[in-house]
Amino acid sequence: MTNTQETNRTVRIFEDTAELYDAAASGTLQAAKDAVARRRRFLLVLAGGETPKPLYTRLSSESLRSAFPWDATHVFWGDERAVPPDDEQSNYGMTVQYLLENVPLSPENIHRIRGELGASAAAREYASELQKMSDKGLAWPRFDLVLLGLGSDGHTASLFPGSTHPSRSAQATLAVTGSYDQRPTSRITLTPPVFNSAREIYFLVAGERKATVVANVLEGDTSAVRYPARRIKPSRGSVTWFIDRAAARKLKEHPSNDAQS
Ligand code: 6PG
Repeated sequence: MTNTQETNRTVRIFEDTAELYDAAASGTLQAAKDAVARRRRFLLVLAGGETPKPLYTRLSSESLRSAFPWDATHVFWGDERAVPPDDEQSNYGMTVQYLLENVPLSPENIHRIRGELGASAAAREYASELQKMSDKGLAWPRFDLVLLGLGSDGHTASLFPGSTHPSRSAQATLAVTGSYDQRPTSRITLTPPVFNSAREIYFLVAGERKATVVANVLEGDTSAVRYPARRIKPSRGSVTWFIDRAAARKLKEHPSNDAQS
């Protein structure tokens, strides 16, 4: 594994994905223990998509399950599709299968986005759930750890290319409707200010098909409208990129990468 660090951004590149997931799992455990020791609770935002599944499997494995402070952990979601929990598109449904049904998390610590209400109503309801979980006078809690993925077009959560997103507003959630990737979409997402107020953010990225976007997001100068992942810049926290060798292949700044490849 190799590391490069810039201000509050760390890029960690792993020879294989098993190493990547082991590191992300032990980082998550450490973040959980630190948060519980300092603030008596751990607020974790889960990501959808394929990439985090092996991390969820590790977190629910025998050894980690017993070391993890599940009773003090609250889980949230960075985004959701406007579908019921049993729909195969549901991020909540996926995390139940890979994580939640295998760990002792009490139902009141699970703060899901109710996609079945439709995008607008679910976004409104989720904003009020976030407010309930936050300190007095604030619209959302400061999350201890946010997990994010990266789409090959530069999207993250449901912040899609071509849209402008509030970077300072007090709006915690957005209903995302219209068409995306030439298909109708209806989703709910947290907004950049919510992500950027987190203590820690992990981007998990693996596979050759992400190589171009990883280089563009981390080293390019294209706007955040084109690559919304560039909006993720925690103001008082840190962001760590967990990238496998295949997805890191086009990064120039990484010393052990062959710039010709
Ligand atoms: C989702 C995610 C989305 C995802 C990226 C990467 O619900 O699909 O929130 O932003 O993280 O599309 O997805 P993969 O991990 O499947 O490549």
